[in-house]
Amino acid sequence: MICFTKSLLIAITVLTVWLQLSQAYCVYNHLDGADSYFYVKEHDIHARFSFKKQINNGQKECCAWDNGDCSPYSTREGPVHFHITFGLFGASLEGATTFDAYCSAGGGLVLSGNSLTNITATCNHYHNTADSTIISPI
Ligand SMILES: *[C@@H]1O[C@H](CO)[C@@H](O)[C@H](O)[C@H]1NC(C)=O
Repeated sequence: MICFTKSLLIAITVLTVWLQLSQAYCVYNHLDGADSYFYVKEHDIHARFSFKKQINNGQKECCAWDNGDCSPYSTREGPVHFHITFGLFGASLEGATTFDAYCSAGGGLVLSGNSLTNITATCNHYHNTADSTIISPI
């Protein structure tokens, strides 16, 4: 009985992780600098509802692709458009330049770099393709 309960708990955990992975996009902070962070917002959704998060170094935040607060289209392939401001090496976000970055709603967006001139956004799409671009100010 204990063994069955344990198996059930493991099954539920695996299922939960799988559901999170398969039903969400995630945005990852892989910037240089332990104190490098950014603020990200889904730009094409009303500001009152949209996905908006501060993401610290080495962290990620996820949002369900079929949730209208996360993505304007309820498909994994649907485009998501982010506005991102960077606090590189602990810099303040106040007055910071806003950058555009794009991915897809079933994908994962990884931000890396160590200067506002070379921040790279890599979007790993749901179907195992990836785009990598140095992002530009809006
Ligand atoms: C990014 O830009 C900074 C400042 O110009 C430079 O020191 C650094 O080497 C660059 N990094 C890459 C990966 O190009």
